[in-house]
Amino acid sequence: ALPPPYQVPLPLPAVARPVSTDGGTDRYEIVQRETSAEILPGLRTPLWTYGGSFPGPTIEARRGRPVTVTHRNELPVPTVVHLHGGRTPADSDGYPTDLVLPAAWPQAPQAMPGMDGHEGGTGTGMADPRAVTSRLRRDYTFPNDQRPTLLWYHDHRMDFTAPALWRGLAGLHIVRDDAEDALGLPAGPHEIPLMITDRAFTADGALTYPSLDPALRDRPGVTEPHLAGVLGDVVLVNGAPWPVHETDAARHRLRLLNASNARHYELEARTEDGRRLDLVQIGADQGLLAAPVTHRSLPVAPAERYDLVVDFAAAPVGSLVRIVNRLGTGRTRDVMAFRIARPAPADDSRIPPRLATDLPDWRREDAVRTRDFAFRAGRMNGGHGWLIGGRPFDPARTDVTVPLGDTEIWRLIADVHHPVHLHLVGFRILTRGGRPPLPHDAGLKDTVSLRPGESAEIITRFDGYRGRYLFHCHNAEHEDMGMMANLEVV
Ligand code: C2O
Ligand code: CU
Repeated sequence: ALPPPYQVPLPLPAVARPVSTDGGTDRYEIVQRETSAEILPGLRTPLWTYGGSFPGPTIEARRGRPVTVTHRNELPVPTVVHLHGGRTPADSDGYPTDLVLPAAWPQAPQAMPGMDGHEGGTGTGMADPRAVTSRLRRDYTFPNDQRPTLLWYHDHRMDFTAPALWRGLAGLHIVRDDAEDALGLPAGPHEIPLMITDRAFTADGALTYPSLDPALRDRPGVTEPHLAGVLGDVVLVNGAPWPVHETDAARHRLRLLNASNARHYELEARTEDGRRLDLVQIGADQGLLAAPVTHRSLPVAPAERYDLVVDFAAAPVGSLVRIVNRLGTGRTRDVMAFRIARPAPADDSRIPPRLATDLPDWRREDAVRTRDFAFRAGRMNGGHGWLIGGRPFDPARTDVTVPLGDTEIWRLIADVHHPVHLHLVGFRILTRGGRPPLPHDAGLKDTVSLRPGESAEIITRFDGYRGRYLFHCHNAEHEDMGMMANLEVV
């Protein structure tokens, strides 16, 4: 039986401890392994985890100070680690065929899923000569040379990202710097990361996922009723069902991530007497806004992050403030609650009227070219696929080549809902549906949520590193069923 809402305490993901901090680099080791956890009261849920927990351990990083993470794979399938939103050299960016192989998996590249032109697969053709594989472990280096923000790391294996994410392969990575620390934003116990996911369970507590191939080996994709994306009827925050967090009546900085495979939320904060508290947005996917933007409710698509401040001083001591999903039905309307247990000690946090001064201000006339990409359903290998520009993902094909340093405008158009994500760069949203962007489109983004039938123009400068990167839909099922493409920075 599912627990009543607001009974389970909100877990706060443990912060990873470096194994060494010498030579200006923080080194971590994470073992990817199977475990089980009590998610629903009284039941054990088998999980795939980073370091034994879901979410995995949070990496706390400082801007400009590199982090190296050695991942060891003790899971029964190959994995790939990607730091979402990271400005990462290509060899550490987790290209979908850069596998960390488990001990018991065929070694020959030709025998690996996604590289052998498997029947019913995404039709990705022959083995890619550039594919790199390593057995059992791999070092990933993250320079953290980027604006401070909440990033997340998750699995990115070709054709099988969605089921691995669903089973628990996700964790947080926070970049901070002195300038942000000096702003006086709510901090310490008043800064709370919230990783929101939905999951479905069997009666005995196991996760259910409608894979065509339960071994996650040969055939990617999901069964017919789930082609649009896999949804669950249980909402988890930091891995707990409809949790409650007891706190005081102070301002809180809520660092929100929608890590769901496919579910969109529209969140609001409601007091017991039915008032909506302001959601003051201070940051987007790629860091602080120039100035705060106040929302009454906030749509959050898969992979998007919103940095919010909510002032619980407006809620009576002893009451609950519920975070509600306006797009949900039945139990997916509830997300979590804060129990305002105590008056605030003197709350000296603040929301400065000016936040960041370093936001890139790319102008239309800076763009040296414009490209168009349609994100639409289509046919692939005789079955259903999700396509970009009419084609499914193929690691052997370069879809876009951009000279390092060029500024481009990309015009994106969608048939149904598609949250479109670019690796390596942050972008600004220029227009949405031919109109000025919406209030929640402010700031520097790495994921833009295209609504059904909608177009958007984004602008970015491709700087940082040369190499092979990706762009794709972050509905994880769409991504596995072809909706991904190669971006080569040269
Ligand atoms: Cu969050 Cu290409 O990924
Ligand atoms: Cu999509």
